Amino acid sequence: MRRPLFNKFSVIFGPRPPWSWLLLCCVSVLALIVVLSSSSFTSFESVTFSIKSDIYTNYRRLKEQTASDYLELTNLSSGLDNLEVGICGKEREHYVPCYNVSENLLTGFKDGEEFDRHCELSQDHEECLVRPPKDYKTPLSWPVGRDVIWNANVRISKDQFLSSGSMTKRLMLLEENQISFHSDDGLLFDGVKEYSHQVAEMIGLGSDAEFLQAGVRTVLDIGCGFGSFGAHLLSLKLMAVCMAAYELTGSQVQLSLERGLPAVIGNFISRKLPFPSLSYDMVHCAQCGILWDQKDGIFLIEVDRILKPGGYFVLHGTSLSTKQGSMASPIEKFTEKICWTLIAQQEETFVWQKTIDAQCYSSGKQGVIPLCAHEGIQSYYQPLASCIEGTNSKRWVPVQNRSSSFQISPADLEIHEIRQDEFYEDLESSRLALRNYWSLLTPLIFSDHPKRPGDEDPLPPYNMIRNVMDMNARYGGFNSAFLEAGKSVWVMNVVPLGTRNTLPFILDQGFAGVLHDWCEPFPTYPRTYDMVHANGLLSNLITEGCSMKRLLLEMDRILRPEGWVVLSDKLVPIEKARMIATQIRWEARVIDLDNGSDQRLLVCQKPFLRK
Ligand SMILES: *[C@@H]1O[C@H](CO)[C@@H](O)[C@H](O)[C@H]1NC(C)=O
Ligand SMILES: *[C@@H]1O[C@H](CO)[C@@H](O)[C@H](O)[C@H]1NC(C)=O
Ligand SMILES: *[C@@H]1O[C@H](CO)[C@@H](O)[C@H](O)[C@H]1NC(C)=O
Ligand SMILES: *[C@@H]1O[C@H](CO)[C@@H](O)[C@H](O)[C@H]1NC(C)=O
Repeated sequence: MRRPLFNKFSVIFGPRPPWSWLLLCCVSVLALIVVLSSSSFTSFESVTFSIKSDIYTNYRRLKEQTASDYLELTNLSSGLDNLEVGICGKEREHYVPCYNVSENLLTGFKDGEEFDRHCELSQDHEECLVRPPKDYKTPLSWPVGRDVIWNANVRISKDQFLSSGSMTKRLMLLEENQISFHSDDGLLFDGVKEYSHQVAEMIGLGSDAEFLQAGVRTVLDIGCGFGSFGAHLLSLKLMAVCMAAYELTGSQVQLSLERGLPAVIGNFISRKLPFPSLSYDMVHCAQCGILWDQKDGIFLIEVDRILKPGGYFVLHGTSLSTKQGSMASPIEKFTEKICWTLIAQQEETFVWQKTIDAQCYSSGKQGVIPLCAHEGIQSYYQPLASCIEGTNSKRWVPVQNRSSSFQISPADLEIHEIRQDEFYEDLESSRLALRNYWSLLTPLIFSDHPKRPGDEDPLPPYNMIRNVMDMNARYGGFNSAFLEAGKSVWVMNVVPLGTRNTLPFILDQGFAGVLHDWCEPFPTYPRTYDMVHANGLLSNLITEGCSMKRLLLEMDRILRPEGWVVLSDKLVPIEKARMIATQIRWEARVIDLDNGSDQRLLVCQKPFLRK
């Protein structure tokens, strides 16, 4: 049933050793650790008595730990071959856990809340591998894949091509088994380029090439259509992240990711977005379906929270006033209460600017929304609040004041209370790690590809890495290393709950990122990342008490077929992960870094299951 997918792996890492042999290796390594530690302890024995007793407890603890590790590994390895995880039914081809709308409705969620993320309801513990749709094809490599995708890879109905609602959606055409996005041909009179240029002019710039100089580096595109505006901004070196609610078909997030554009499922019907306050330079909504004047402006307050001072809110395609010249619309009235200025309006496009004056909110002006009494920096899916956040933050720096250089300055580190040595160490080890991974993976990514039966010869380079997730991003070093190395990737930097919240720092570097609890599934569609990377996440997870198997199954769901997993951790969690990797049919190899530590790499490739 299982056939080896790629022989190159064996060439590089050698043939797969038998389990018993592996187990023996682990045991000997563990035994060695015990012996080494005990002998190194003896040299201290003469120092003092109290240290000596410490040593004995340490030694005993180590020995016990070793014994239990051994038991755990034995447990795991016994009866492995009959534990291979099954494949989910066809109905799960596009499965996103925590978004079961019919179940949410049954539970009583309504008024849009049924489209919210409700992991607490997911009682589903079926362990299975999400299969690709029947005619799934490996996406075309970047940048061709940005403009042309395979029809069969996404869930989209014929109607969705015809009912071309928003500006960005009109740019999509179907050609046989492909969907193409003609964003660059400039033939369309109201094309994305013209629109972007118009927005730039409205904020007082000569052209959209000046966004960066004007301090606009990160954009949150709410309800991004099919991502064409974001694709254009990316070409101008901005970071545009698409965010849209879960959709059963024609998902904006699924299509954007398929095109290699940053995107994540999310909405703020009832709970805050998984970003800290003062995160983005611009928030954009083109017919994004949010009723901004509802619920006493609470959605506008959430936008205010994530906008940086002096940042812009661009609203397109919503008619604000019912009658010309008469009363201001409810949205216009409300924006005054949150100290925004309407700086320009052209036809259906409105641009507001958030105040740079933190005192504005506390000035006691009539009707101004009050400041929050408590601010949670770890605002992870907290209920929406109708108060203003972020004014006391050290990060209250107007976007216009930011230096246009992308370099991190000592002042930036100080704002984030990050020690210089820590930051540079992380960056240096990420650079080294990336060089290692890339030299390990390159022969595999760009090598002759074993042809699948019935496939035509793919055109090289067919296995391009574009969408990367760093599951434990720390200071974003891995992302920086990718950029420095000139790789055409973008990285979703995930900051796990329970670790130091470095997300503000990551976002301030102009990167994409979210907070996430890895005991839960990630808000994305299946097959949306080409590579997932996690350094130290496994040992972190063990202390959090979550199931490693669930995590690896979730990685499998997120990865496209033939995508890569690179895990870096201590010996025991890596061995555990390797055993699970085999159960979920990954090709997996452990690599000893040979630098005298018990740090190991686990490099895996997800197979292309066709059944
Ligand atoms: C080994 O497996 C048994 C039965 O599943 C379980 O009771 C035991 O706690 C496991 N031991 C370890 C060390 O995980
Ligand atoms: C969604 O919930 C309904 C009702 O509880 C259930 O019948 C269905 O199987 C669930 N769907 C998935 C994909 O879990
Ligand atoms: C931003 O720049 C202006 C003009 O250079 C300056 O007056 C102001 O103090 C700066 N604000 C901050 C918070 O650095
Ligand atoms: C070995 O390499 C790993 C990964 O680069 C690193 O985290 C670890 O500190 C190194 N250990 C030593 C003893 O140099």
